[in-house]
Amino acid sequence: MTGATNETDGTGDPSVTEEATGVTGVTGVTGVTVATRADGTGRTPRSFAGEDPFPLALWAEAVYSRRAIPATLASGYPAPGTADAEPDPLPHGPRLQLVSPPLDLVPPADSPAALTDPAVLSALLHYSYGLLQHDLTPGGWPLHRAVASARCRYPSELTLVTPTAAFRFDPLHHQLVVLTGSVTGDQANDQEGDRTGDGGGDPGTSRFIVITSRFARTARLYGGYAPRLCAQEAGMLLGAVHLVAAALGLRTRPGQDQETLRVLCADRLPDAVEHPMGYLEILRSVEQPADPTWPPPDLAPALRARHSGAAIFDPVPTPSPRALLTDLGAALAAAPFTGFSSHLLVQRVAGFPPGHYVHSDGRLRQVSDGDPLELLEQTGQTEGRVSVNFRSTACTAYIAVRRGTAVARYGADAFRRLHLTAGAAAHLLCVVAARHGLSARIHNGYDAAVAERLLGLTPGEETVLFQVAIGTARPGAAFRIPVVF
Ligand SMILES: Cc1cc2nc3c(=O)[nH]c(=O)nc-3n(C[C@H](O)[C@H](O)[C@H](O)COP(=O)(O)O)c2cc1C
Repeated sequence: MTGATNETDGTGDPSVTEEATGVTGVTGVTGVTVATRADGTGRTPRSFAGEDPFPLALWAEAVYSRRAIPATLASGYPAPGTADAEPDPLPHGPRLQLVSPPLDLVPPADSPAALTDPAVLSALLHYSYGLLQHDLTPGGWPLHRAVASARCRYPSELTLVTPTAAFRFDPLHHQLVVLTGSVTGDQANDQEGDRTGDGGGDPGTSRFIVITSRFARTARLYGGYAPRLCAQEAGMLLGAVHLVAAALGLRTRPGQDQETLRVLCADRLPDAVEHPMGYLEILRSVEQPADPTWPPPDLAPALRARHSGAAIFDPVPTPSPRALLTDLGAALAAAPFTGFSSHLLVQRVAGFPPGHYVHSDGRLRQVSDGDPLELLEQTGQTEGRVSVNFRSTACTAYIAVRRGTAVARYGADAFRRLHLTAGAAAHLLCVVAARHGLSARIHNGYDAAVAERLLGLTPGEETVLFQVAIGTARPGAAFRIPVVF
């Protein structure tokens, strides 16, 4: 392999450096200062804050290219113009200690699952977004949560909203922070909430998990590229909550609706610094999952083991078990949203000849056979360099969505919606890989236009939003230990 890149050096294209020399800072509506251009290229400087968090230009700036990434990313220093101080990580308020999370994720033995059960609430939050691993490697990113996050910035925030109160999850302390409402000793579970029925999406009577995003946290490194990462990660978190809830026997209704989000967030969340992204309504519990194989009984250990691999993704070229693909099929069929397809470029998975497969609408079909290495190396490039060592990966997934139709219908908001859909699926890929002892690396170093062409996507309609490389991790320098509360 030559030229594999990771995040730290993924911006080596001279054009990026050139552009970034003209970067200046502007302060957005929220008071967050972000990098913009003064390079005379004709592109309009913009802020990601305020009314329009995902302007249409973001597709060109952050999906079809990585122009929005400032050159400082390579050094790890804050993006030009961003505030030096870390944005306040959590709001102040009374704190409620959650009970210790269980070691397994199974529905309660003697009663229907409900958030009124402290063990269920604790498990849901911990295995969706909790702190699961401590990496002691000097100079590394020490804290790793249940979902992946670009450079461990974790811009997403998770809030439990009940009819009378709102609680922010603090993963570091495994606590809830009371945002609004008064709370007695019975913490977040003293309402009727999800026991009262399906609720019909009414914020006045139901319980919701609301996902918001603090762009500024990621923008400190990624500048104007942050909204893309934040949208991806919000989708992944939504997928995580949906999955863990199902394993606990809770049924959820995932949602993207702007108006519901607005009502859920109004007067409850620190709206000046957070963008509402998505939500899940907690419904009546289910005793029998639709598919008995998914979520799997060993989900908790899989989530505790999930990881993205070493800085350079360079796995051992050993065959992965056949169950990797059958499991992927079951997981994707249970994804919170439909309307995506997962293109699987299979190199070494037992029982599956190398080739191009597509999983969509709950079905896996083979598109072509033969080693997909050339396709991968042409597609998976970060500014001219191959992003990961595709010569030893087991399988790489590209998650595609129907951008043309979504933009026609939702305009700029299509960006948030499509990233929620694709992000949720991407997290499932990571979890399935972990279940089979593999690491999965989300890597944004791919050329979306090349991917569209080589994967045979519908021109002008379909777009790739995620590249996920999967393989057997090599023993590396990292020393991660599990976190136990
Ligand atoms: C949306 C997203 C984009 C990412 N993009 C890249 C990338 O371009 N290059 C890279 O090396 N890693 C990338 N990563 C991987 C993260 O750096 C990795 O998830 C993080 O180090 C956390 O490690 P963990 O998943 O093992 O906890 C990305 C992760 C996410 C969630």
